[in-house]
Amino acid sequence: MFTISRHPVSDDVRQRAHLDDADYQRLYQQSVDDPETFWGEQAKAFLDWFKPWDEVCSGSLSKGDIRWFSGGELNISHNCIDRHLAKRGDQVALIWEGDDPNESATITYKALHEQVCRLANVLKDRGVKKGDRVCIYMPMVPEAAYAMLACTRIGAVHSVVFGGFSPDALRDRILDADCRTVITADEAVRGGKQIPLKSNVDTALNSCPNVSTVLVVRRTGKEVDWQAKRDLWYHEAVQQVAADCPAEPMDAEDPLFILYTSGSTGKPKGVLHSTAGYLLQAAMTHKYVFDYHDGDIYWCTADVGWVTGHSYIVYGPLANGATSLIFEGVPNYPDTSRFWQVIDKHQVNIFYTAPTALRALMREGEAPVKKTSRSSLRLLGSVGEPINPEAWEWYFNVVGEQRCPIVDTWWQTETGTIMITPLPGATDLKPGSATRPFFGVQPVLLDEQGKEIDGAGAGVLAIKASWPSQIRSVYGDHKRMLETYFTAYPGYYFSGDGARRDEDGYWWITGRVDDVINVSGHRIGTAEVESALVLHEAVAEAAVVGYPHDVKGQGIYAFVTTMNGVEPSDELKKELLSLVGKEIGSFAKPELIQWAPGLPKTRSGKIMRRILRKIACNELDSLGDTSTLADPAVVDSLVAERLNS
Ligand code: PRX
Repeated sequence: MFTISRHPVSDDVRQRAHLDDADYQRLYQQSVDDPETFWGEQAKAFLDWFKPWDEVCSGSLSKGDIRWFSGGELNISHNCIDRHLAKRGDQVALIWEGDDPNESATITYKALHEQVCRLANVLKDRGVKKGDRVCIYMPMVPEAAYAMLACTRIGAVHSVVFGGFSPDALRDRILDADCRTVITADEAVRGGKQIPLKSNVDTALNSCPNVSTVLVVRRTGKEVDWQAKRDLWYHEAVQQVAADCPAEPMDAEDPLFILYTSGSTGKPKGVLHSTAGYLLQAAMTHKYVFDYHDGDIYWCTADVGWVTGHSYIVYGPLANGATSLIFEGVPNYPDTSRFWQVIDKHQVNIFYTAPTALRALMREGEAPVKKTSRSSLRLLGSVGEPINPEAWEWYFNVVGEQRCPIVDTWWQTETGTIMITPLPGATDLKPGSATRPFFGVQPVLLDEQGKEIDGAGAGVLAIKASWPSQIRSVYGDHKRMLETYFTAYPGYYFSGDGARRDEDGYWWITGRVDDVINVSGHRIGTAEVESALVLHEAVAEAAVVGYPHDVKGQGIYAFVTTMNGVEPSDELKKELLSLVGKEIGSFAKPELIQWAPGLPKTRSGKIMRRILRKIACNELDSLGDTSTLADPAVVDSLVAERLNS
């Protein structure tokens, strides 16, 4: 057993930090006792407004009509760029570190302003207007951030699709949001390999007749297919327009972006965020959670295709006038010292990454870390999945040399920004615990009947009052938002996660309680993988569950029943994997496929996933009562043939 030790806030950290524990207690209390005053003050302190708001917060969780800063007007790109120009025009806004260690660039706030304005003008010339949706399918290059900010400048709603998604998945997302414009690159480069983004877009667009503009960043120079009227080279287009573009005044509640995420049922949902509340909480969490001070170099290793990249590479840092690093590569290319080399090269002070990367690097031992200095590091962060205490201690002792506090931040695409987290100068740390709620966040534990559990205990994690950056809708399907998040436990936001609260009131997130699997921090719905598998003509039925994986956190385990008369084979397994790759993307391919002559079902025909989960996790003592199954013998054969024994 690994014993969990408490790590108190050190004097050094406390002295430097914006907030200490007394500040936290006072501000947290104010934020829940008097949210109107609290958030009103923060919104004035953190954001620049064109027009003040009439009301801080209105509406209710159960009705799904929440509004923050109603009547107020502002613009996100103005807040992330223009207002910094007088003081920080020549300060670096973005550092870009290429996949190849010899490639990097810096972009000042002044340069960022020009780039974003030019691109905004290109979009306008192509007819993009306020409220239109623009799809961004990009590598990790500065143009990805320009594209997001250019949309916000003119009030277009961006939908960033992670570059690892397949053409089919991209097509579904373009169609769902009815995007007419796509911004992409000829190729992406990761770990020395090329990914054919433009060709993926071409394939996707075979079924998207409404797309009239594809802007293509030239990243590698690879020759690509071209449709003369539709396709434009980015570098040519931006030279043909003016270098200035006014920032459109937007209503506080105007939609800002759509980001697709997986749930337990059906196809991915387009989570919709709105303008003011999102930016406020992104800026505020970035400053206090990472204890950001002027001049710090900050690096979040996420991809802009996920919410972490939105809030903590682009919006939070830039709203605070920070220097934010964008990394194109992967942790193990050219070798497993890469993260630490980048930290030394750019003198990174604050580093935010995912447990899966840490676990993979931990396997390589301490040498690749120790051959670098890392003396610039002051603070470490973790996000995306529970961090196991062993990985936490390794991060703390080896990477941070016991000098850097770790902020383990719990949040979701739907919450928009960090919800449960330590504050470095305020919170004693316990490895594996996300610790305490951020200002204004009121988490509760609910039991199976939906009753709040007081004190220490375990249950499902729900939130009992609105927070500024909360989900506003599911794009095109408001009812689905209400059903997914606000119906199971009326009056609460249901997170889909299980949690435990200890005697000190600290929160420990235990993982999803629904049919969502978290593979290397990528959220994958079991239903999506199953739908892909059953598309194969040889497959009669498929059931997908998660199981613990040393590096990825969870792995995907698929039970597949073939059609009568079809012999399972390795060939078929390969076809199934490539089918999942085609339908979703390579990251969703099952690690394990077990051929199942039958699946455990109730007499009414419902698949008993609970039993499959136990088999996949090799937890045979707790299979539970199988006597109510239509055919209990099925379980014995699945257990005998299990792949994770
Ligand atoms: O299960 C939780 C896990 O990631 C889920 C949210 O995934 P996504 O919307 O893709 O956003 C990921 C980045 C915020 C959650 O429901 N999760 C996220 N952070 C943590 C976590 N689980 C435990 N500890 C965390 N710090």
